Amino acid sequence: MLSGRRILLIIGGGIAAYKTLDLIRRLRERGAAVTPVLTRAAGEFVTPLSVSALAGEKVYTDLFDLTDEAEMGHIQLSRVADLVLVAPATADLMAKMAHGLAGDLASTLLLATDTPVMIAPAMNVRMWEHPATQRNLAVLRGDGVAVVGPNEGDMACGEFGPGRMSEPLEIVAAVGAALSDGPLRGRRVVLTSGPTHEPIDPVRYIANRSSGAQGTAIAAALRDLGAEVIFVTGPAEVPPPEGVEVVAVQSARQMRDAVLAALPADAGIFAAAVADWRVAHPSDSKLKKTKGGLPVLEFAENPDILAEVAQMGAGRPALVVGFAAETDDVIANATAKRQSKGCDWIVANDVSPATGIMGGAENAVTLISGDGAEDWPRMGKTEVARRLASRIAEALGER
Ligand code: CTP
Repeated sequence: MLSGRRILLIIGGGIAAYKTLDLIRRLRERGAAVTPVLTRAAGEFVTPLSVSALAGEKVYTDLFDLTDEAEMGHIQLSRVADLVLVAPATADLMAKMAHGLAGDLASTLLLATDTPVMIAPAMNVRMWEHPATQRNLAVLRGDGVAVVGPNEGDMACGEFGPGRMSEPLEIVAAVGAALSDGPLRGRRVVLTSGPTHEPIDPVRYIANRSSGAQGTAIAAALRDLGAEVIFVTGPAEVPPPEGVEVVAVQSARQMRDAVLAALPADAGIFAAAVADWRVAHPSDSKLKKTKGGLPVLEFAENPDILAEVAQMGAGRPALVVGFAAETDDVIANATAKRQSKGCDWIVANDVSPATGIMGGAENAVTLISGDGAEDWPRMGKTEVARRLASRIAEALGER
């Protein structure tokens, strides 16, 4: 996926630097060559020896190291890579980048480079939310710097919130997308997949037979065309593909929150088989057999994620695609669904048991758009995914 690519990796001085060691390994496993640069502060968190052992290359640490200057000047060093990746990008490094400071090797390289730059911020939540950091972030985005993360969660400093560095595989996915030369390069796509599980009590749930196979194939096909894919998946049988950002959820409501958090995006593809209903009041403890009779479950309607995103007005992805799994009157029902949900396309399929499509390897779909219904011949789910991904690339190219 990254073979033949060279990444200049600038490691900032934050506790997340320990994750960067794994990141180096992951990048190299995928064929990338990594030239590491440590800031002075980063050297307090990880040692040059461990970084160079993992990278299999010399570590650059100081602007005024004459030996380095003799071997490779800092200007040249800043330009040998296909991508300059800053991980972790501390508040201090982001501020230096935003203001064009060049007081040490890392900031000098960042100012001198003419290759694309990506940052993976990591810092305390208050520092991240501080207006100064947010101002710097806006400046950097305006300068064309790609930003991956940060994630929300428990932090090493004991607080909770956004500020954790993205996981190594999420960063690898963003790097893969940034270095792709496919037609979806630079495009961000949010994709739902798999079933949802709606709890009845701590051990039981309501689910459906979706395996997640079609959604997973679409994620891989979009990735192969260079898209940055946010793959929001319920508990599927098929494992998620490599090189996409996976957000694992259980219930429809969690899926909705994850989708909204992943926006803005250029396209939203809703391949999940979302449960239409959930149990209104799941029990905190396991329901027991009683002599009094059978339990009665009261249902509540789940949010319709596709309809909500398709009708959201400002912030709506340019292309919104829904799926319709039908057993009768496939085209009529799917055409009506496109209208009622407000999406651009519906990928309709016949899931009557006789077709063997649900849980099978093949699919026969009809693509319903504003131009009418287009039948695709029965083909493998991977082939359907490739065809759909290239149609998405065409459509986004026109928008
Ligand atoms: N969908 C969604 N959120 C829901 C239900 C469905 O995002 N709560 C999306 C699915 O991912 C799919 C599309 O809506 O892209 C169609 O879902 P489907 O279950 O076929 O249609 P329903 O809206 O449930 O209508 P019906 O049950 O009448 O067929």
